[in-house]
Amino acid sequence: VARSGARGRLQSLDASTVATKKQQKQEDVRGSESNTTRRTFQEMQEERQKQAEHTVLINCPSKINEKNFLKYLSQYGTINSHFFFESYGTHAVVEFSEKESIELLQAQANIPSSNNESAVPFKSRLFTLKLTSALQVSGSKPSIQLQKQSTIPINELIQKLCLAESVEQQLYILLEEHQLTDENLRLRFLVCSLIKDLVTAYFPESDVKSFGSSVNTFGKLGCDLDMFLDLDAVESSGTKKASGAFSIEYQMKCVPSGRVATQRILSVIGKCLENFGPGCTSVQNILNARCPLVRFSHQPAGFQCDLTANNRIALRSSELLYVYGSLDPRVRALVFSIRCWARVHGITSSIPGAWITNFSLTMMVLFFLQKRDPPIIPTLDQLKNLAGAADKQIIEGNDCTFVSDLNQINLSENKETLDVLLTEFLEFYGHFAFNKNSINIRKGKEQNKPEVYPLYIQNPLEQTLNISKNVNHAQLERFVALARDSSWILQQENMGHPSIGSAQPWGLAALLLPSVFQNANQGKKKKRTGASGRIKSLLESLKKNNLSRNLPASNE
Ligand code: CTP
Ligand code: MG
Repeated sequence: VARSGARGRLQSLDASTVATKKQQKQEDVRGSESNTTRRTFQEMQEERQKQAEHTVLINCPSKINEKNFLKYLSQYGTINSHFFFESYGTHAVVEFSEKESIELLQAQANIPSSNNESAVPFKSRLFTLKLTSALQVSGSKPSIQLQKQSTIPINELIQKLCLAESVEQQLYILLEEHQLTDENLRLRFLVCSLIKDLVTAYFPESDVKSFGSSVNTFGKLGCDLDMFLDLDAVESSGTKKASGAFSIEYQMKCVPSGRVATQRILSVIGKCLENFGPGCTSVQNILNARCPLVRFSHQPAGFQCDLTANNRIALRSSELLYVYGSLDPRVRALVFSIRCWARVHGITSSIPGAWITNFSLTMMVLFFLQKRDPPIIPTLDQLKNLAGAADKQIIEGNDCTFVSDLNQINLSENKETLDVLLTEFLEFYGHFAFNKNSINIRKGKEQNKPEVYPLYIQNPLEQTLNISKNVNHAQLERFVALARDSSWILQQENMGHPSIGSAQPWGLAALLLPSVFQNANQGKKKKRTGASGRIKSLLESLKKNNLSRNLPASNE
């Protein structure tokens, strides 16, 4: 049913006059994605990881001839897939059918030499290809097609939205523009796999897994790549062999606590990435954060990476979001639009601080969808009741049990359109009793706030934690005021409908225009935090809260 629901919506998009060929292609991607997301989170991860292990990243000359490039590469083996993109030069991602092809390529590649550099005996899967006459594009032949790795500018997005036929269609257009493409997802898993190569050179029994928005179905092009170093493999293999007379010296290294051990391991990895990590730049060791991490940029891939350690609970939390994001196409459409709306109006920020995070916003949307009548998505308690024996998971004393198989979950009877849901979301939070109630997706009902934070969103897996404890009163008030203003705008005559023959932004497009809010406020008595107020609060917040306390790492 979910699939046919998604199809139905896709068909309504297909019929639209705005569907260009490019959009059509992206819809195909989503169509295939909505089929493949019926896989469990673990199946998806394993498939993508395997794909990544067969893949290389090649820095290419921009004038390369695609056909000749593929012919040249095929001497190393069969190529399953490839694509080109731009980030500090032209790059190609090439997936071979056999791993041996990569070894052959590594064995035959030149090792660069220069007077002030010396090669470290570690062969990566990042290559540079020299332009030879055989590879060069000749005459008027078309050059390679570059896959987009970032979102379009907001003004272009607004123009596209104005051409839609309904608010619902606007939300799906925004989703198409912002969601991770299949190619970008391949690149993310490739980077994770490249980092794993480096880390396992030190700690052979560890693993590096991706979590967060890159894998939870809510990732936007350009978002960071969250990874964690899974050292559990080492520990569990240790306990299994505990019967013999030997203990291994390296496992017995004395550290005051698990946290210190994690910090030391991450600090070694941070140093390693900084000194030898191919493509890794701006490496920062942020080891005093609640969840210690190493942050760096992967320059050829073009995104920021956060590497934490032993963060299994965050991986499980990503799986929970994956389940919700895969259940009904309205979930992701609403989350992406709300996130974009919040970002445009400075409710969220890329700088850590006292503002609402994307993760909190997602929880707010999920909670709202649980509160519809009939509910659009089940509560976490209901997902727990559907769990089989294999789904039972207790992580660090937290019950993280819920069903992984999407086919076990009954789909909602609720047929509300996104036109309705967008307005209702804004109304719901514009009038939510934040002063006394907390948001709880486990129960799908508001609860009394256990502590006096301005915004209390219970961490669904670590139930004693508030995922939005960083949010202050001023930021919550800005969110509420914006929700009310936006709801008011959507309910104005003609705002919910396409403006025929006029370029006047309407619907979601109107909500993404900052100027509309200034106009809407004329004649309405409302205290607003202007740009200068916001900058002041940003500076104050940065001063008050040191970086480590506010990092949006895991578990707050
Ligand atoms: N997380 C958590 N508790 C928090 C913050 C984060 O459990 N207070 C977990 C969530 O699983 C989250 C992941 O850590 O998805 C990564 O956090 P972050 O990068 O802040 O959020 P993303 O969901 O990845 O969203 P974004 O696109 O903004 O990076
Ligand atoms: Mg993230």
